[in-house]
Parts: sequence; structure tokens; C-alpha cells
Amino acid sequence: MIPSDVKATLSFSDGSPAMDLPIYKGTMGPDVLDIRKLYATTDKFTYDTGFLSTAACQSAITYIDGDKGELLYRGYPIEQLAVKCDYLETCYLLLNGELPNAAQKADFDNRVTQHTMVHEQMQFFLRGFRRDAHPMAVLTGLVGGMSAFYHDSIDINNPVHRHIAAIRLIAKMPTLVSMAYKYTVGQPYIYPHNDLSYAANFMRMMFATPTSEYKPNDVLVRAMDRIFILHADHEQNASTSTVRLCGSSGTNPFAAIAAGVACLWGPSHGGANEAALNMLEDIQRNGGVEKIGEFIAQVKDKNSHVKLMGFGHRVYKNYDPRAKLMRETCYEVLNELGLQNDPLFKLAMALEKIALEDDYFVSRKLYPNVDFYSGIVQRAIGIPVPLFTAIFALARTVGWIAQLNEMIADPEYKIGRPRQLYIGATRRDVPPLAQR
Ligand code: SDX
Repeated sequence: MIPSDVKATLSFSDGSPAMDLPIYKGTMGPDVLDIRKLYATTDKFTYDTGFLSTAACQSAITYIDGDKGELLYRGYPIEQLAVKCDYLETCYLLLNGELPNAAQKADFDNRVTQHTMVHEQMQFFLRGFRRDAHPMAVLTGLVGGMSAFYHDSIDINNPVHRHIAAIRLIAKMPTLVSMAYKYTVGQPYIYPHNDLSYAANFMRMMFATPTSEYKPNDVLVRAMDRIFILHADHEQNASTSTVRLCGSSGTNPFAAIAAGVACLWGPSHGGANEAALNMLEDIQRNGGVEKIGEFIAQVKDKNSHVKLMGFGHRVYKNYDPRAKLMRETCYEVLNELGLQNDPLFKLAMALEKIALEDDYFVSRKLYPNVDFYSGIVQRAIGIPVPLFTAIFALARTVGWIAQLNEMIADPEYKIGRPRQLYIGATRRDVPPLAQR
């Protein structure tokens, strides 16, 4: 943090003593007002539910410019990473701050590959779930359960433990997600194959069976790897903030990541890709493109509580750069599969066009976000809709770990403990039961 030569002074109309608030600058983005001494000095809290104007930390990992629609991982534009790198290179970058050279890439890939299997006992966790359990319920349990297996890497303050836990989580998420899927369809689990790439290995564990091998299609594997890259990290979003707050208590990394999985499940966050595809299928079932006008009218009617899922974003007030890349990936995958005329993709593009010309969305700066097209790509690849968010969690695991490790390594970090504006009953005595 660089002290700004601009000062902010907080003054009160009741003559209470004014207070200078230091301002700090980052390398890019908005400056911050340092209010850490506000309560001790003024006996007042700030009030910012939803954290619309609050920087909860300093970070060097991901930068978003919502007005420009810009996303950088460690300074590299997502548009370049998605084309020039693979997901494991992106993991190395997010964890270490620099892209790997050839030797570092080979070593990192090998480390991850050597940790793709999970303990044989983990399969017995799944038996406790109903077969129709949502994969995110299963994944939350499996990731949390990892802390019961890896006692040699749960001291969050030990950098060696943090590194081992990072490799294990990145390596094992594809195995756990595919196990969660196989369990719901009643098929046996498929073990990882160490001679396959990260994305190809995941797709084989998803789609192979003991009776028929799965030959990964290079275009689909590249699309899956790109989906992982686009979802890898995204600044201080709800699930990342959950991981940071959870980890700030000193709990083990597996428990903190499990908390992130649980938060991501929500339809306003990572659950939006599942909700967006279900929305498109509903419109398609009820008449398709001809019914878009009716649906948009419903969205504009506040009483309907219907949202255009996959649209809008707390930070992006321009097109989410990931949505543009996801739409390109849509074209590539649908062309490869001969599904150029996929009705759902055509419906999504028609819906996007109408929304982007409608003042309701334009005035509120509501643009497609990463979730608007990701469901169509995953459905075309053969991923079942309820698994979309689990794949988002698989990809985001590296971001959560990088952010958690950055927090723990920050000498200024403390356990997170927000306060409140109390609006409840003032002190009163308990009346005897007969008088209640
Ligand atoms: C992700 O934070 C991240 O970085 C998240 C993420 C990541 O990578 O981690 O990018 C991943 O979660 C993407 C977002 C996925 N969610 C959805 O697609 C669900 C639909 N979107 C909305 O729920 C909403 O846009 C949010 C939750 C994403 C953002 O909500 P905000 O910033 O709190 O904005 P808001 O709800 O205050 O909306 C402002 C206005 C409101 O109308 P008015 O009160 O001004 O009349 O816009 C309206 C909202 O009603 N609005 C929508 C809308 N999103 C906002 N109206 C219709 N459809 C929508 N999708």
C-alpha cells in the first residue's frame, strides 16, 4: 500500500472532534480510506452491508475493472491466458505470482498428477448420501472430509503444509467431482489416468465406464480446460471472502475451501450457471424465441421476483470478459459436435440481443456474466446440469487457495470479526412465566 498525499477528514456537524483518515493507493484501481482506527477514535462503525464500498484486504492476485470489463490474473489479461496457457499453468501463476518456465511447468504438472487419487476410504462417504443428492451437497462433504485424511498438511500457518494442501486440493477436485457424478448415476468410479492432461483426465473419469473407454476429443478437452481457466479466480467475490473469513480463524485449508464450496452453491453466485440453463430450458419449453418478450416482461416486474440468470454483476458494469470467451468456446464446441443450430444457443443469443437493447438492462448496466454461456458449453460436452456448479468449484479451488495463502502470509491479518448496527430490544428483565 502506497500512502496517498491526499488526506480525508471526517467531521461531525455536532462539533465532535474531526478525524483524519489516511488514504492508500494500490498499483491499479480505487484508493482506500483507512478506517481501522475509526471505532477507537469516534466510537462509531461504518455501515456497508453487501460490502458495496469496502476493501476487506489488500491483494496482488486478481484485478477487475468493472467499467472496462477487464480481468487480470497477476497482471495477465484473461483473454491471453485463455488462449496461450492451460489451466495448470494458470494455477502455478495464481499460486506463485509468475508464469512457470518449461521446467517449472513440467515439475508442477507432475506434482499435481501424482496426487490425483483420493484415499480409498473416501468412497464410503458417498454411500451415506441419497443417489439423488445434489452434487454440491456431496462435494461440500467430501472436501470438508479431506481434513480427516491429511493430518500432515492442516497447519495453515506452515507454508510447507499450505503448499502440500494446495497440490492435493487442485489434484483431487476432478476426482471428487467425477465421483460425485458417478454416484448419482449409479456407475462405478473411474480412477485417474496419469498419462492424461488435467482436463482430459477429468473428462475420462466423468464419461468412461469399465465397459467402454472414453477417447477425449481435443476440442472438447480444450474447452473444458478453458472453462477451468475462466473460473479460476475473481478477486474478493462471495465465496472467496467466505474462504478468507473462515481461514482467518486458523482452521485447516480443507475446511476453509469446503466453506467456499458451500457459498458458491447459491444461485446469485456460482449456482447461476445451473439456474441460467434451467431458465433457457424453461423458455424453450414454453415457446422459445417467440416467448422471450413475455419472459423479459416478467423479469421487469419486480413482483415476479424473476431474474435474468447469467446477467448482471456486482463489479462488471460492462460485458464480463469471461462471457465473451465463453461464447467463443460455445461456437467451437457446437461446431465440433455438429450442433451449430443448437436451439438453446440460438435462444441465448436472441435473449442477449434483446436484453442488451432494452433500457431496463441498459440503465442498470446489466450484461451477460460468465454464467450465461458456460451452461450451454457444458451441456453440449455432456455435463449434467446439476454438476455445473461443482465444476465451477473445481476450477475456483486454486483461486480460493491462492487468496487464503496470501491472507495467511500477510503479517497484518487478524481473525475477521465484523460488528453491527444493533436495532433490537433495549435491556429488559425476564417476566415470570405467568406474566408473559
Ligand atoms: C458470479 O462476485 C463475483 O465475482 C462473482 C463471480 C465470480 O467469478 O466469483 O463473477 C461469479 O457469481 C457471477 C454472477 C452470477 N449471478 C447471476 O447471474 C444471478 C443473476 N444476477 C443477479 O442476481 C445480480 O446481478 C447479482 C447478484 C449478480 C449482482 O447483484 P447486485 O450487485 O447486488 O445488484 P442488485 O441486485 O442491487 O441489482 C441492481 C438492480 C436491481 O434493480 P433495481 O432495484 O435497481 O430496480 O439490477 C437488478 C436488480 O433488481 N438486477 C437484475 C438482475 N441483476 C440485477 N434484474 C434482472 N435480472 C438480473 N439478473
